[in-house]
Amino acid sequence: MDRPYIICHMVTSLDGKVTGDFLGKSAYSGLIEDYYRIHREYGADGFLCGRVTMESSFPQPPAPTAVYDGPPIVREDYIAESAAFYAVAIDPQGKLWWSDRAIADTDDGYNDAHIIEVLTQSVSDVFLAHLRGKGVSYLFGGKTELDLSLVVQKLKRVFGVETLLLEGGGIVNGSFLQEGLIDEISLVVIPAAEPSEKAVPLFQTGHYQTGDIAAASFRLKEAKNLDNGGLWLTYQKQS
Ligand SMILES: NC(=O)c1ccc[n+]([C@@H]2O[C@H](COP(=O)([O-])OP(=O)(O)OC[C@H]3O[C@@H](n4cnc5c(N)ncnc54)[C@H](OP(=O)(O)O)[C@@H]3O)[C@@H](O)[C@H]2O)c1
Repeated sequence: MDRPYIICHMVTSLDGKVTGDFLGKSAYSGLIEDYYRIHREYGADGFLCGRVTMESSFPQPPAPTAVYDGPPIVREDYIAESAAFYAVAIDPQGKLWWSDRAIADTDDGYNDAHIIEVLTQSVSDVFLAHLRGKGVSYLFGGKTELDLSLVVQKLKRVFGVETLLLEGGGIVNGSFLQEGLIDEISLVVIPAAEPSEKAVPLFQTGHYQTGDIAAASFRLKEAKNLDNGGLWLTYQKQS
């Protein structure tokens, strides 16, 4: 395969939502811990999230006010370092002004993951100069829109990523599903319904792709009981 094996790993409600009050209930904190434990046990080479998820999980500093007065920066992929584990951010417009080359987190499954920004060529020179200055890697996935197939091919070819955890939110998951780029789904299901209209679904489409959206079939690989009525469900893509 010319791209990584991609596992969509998420916590959901019974009705397939990935945001909402149910996530904050103390009764389910053990199931959230199970999610992070499973993330670590996968031993993947990296995890990938959309810009909104990255921002909510890893708070970002405001954009600097400094003006870039250096030479124009050629739109070429930039490998700041080769690492054992990567945090891949889908950030087409360059909105994540990382303050360091790697994630700082209390969870060993995320801490020190080297950041790769996935950009379009439309981002500013000042943003690229900022990433270089901080030692953050970046790759280009298209001129003004992202070609996710190209992006994941580059993750394997340029950074050696063999197994990738796709960890939301709904928009980025929906884009990967629609492009046929999900090989496996791993769900920690919390026994609560989340009827809020604002809650984000596991797969949200219609933002970046147009035309008919085909249903994607998966077969159950394993179902495991977790404490407090939770389930860990894994599915593999039907070929
Ligand atoms: N329950 C769980 O396991 C779990 C896991 C992860 C996240 N979450 C939650 O999910 C929520 C966020 O989900 P979300 O669906 O709103 O946002 P998201 O998928 O995290 O990020 C969406 C953004 O990423 C960029 N993006 C994603 N796919 C793209 C594509 N194909 N082409 C170009 N750009 C693309 C765009 O950034 P720009 O807007 O900058 O263009 C887009 O607005 C958060 O509240 C988070 O806490 C839950």
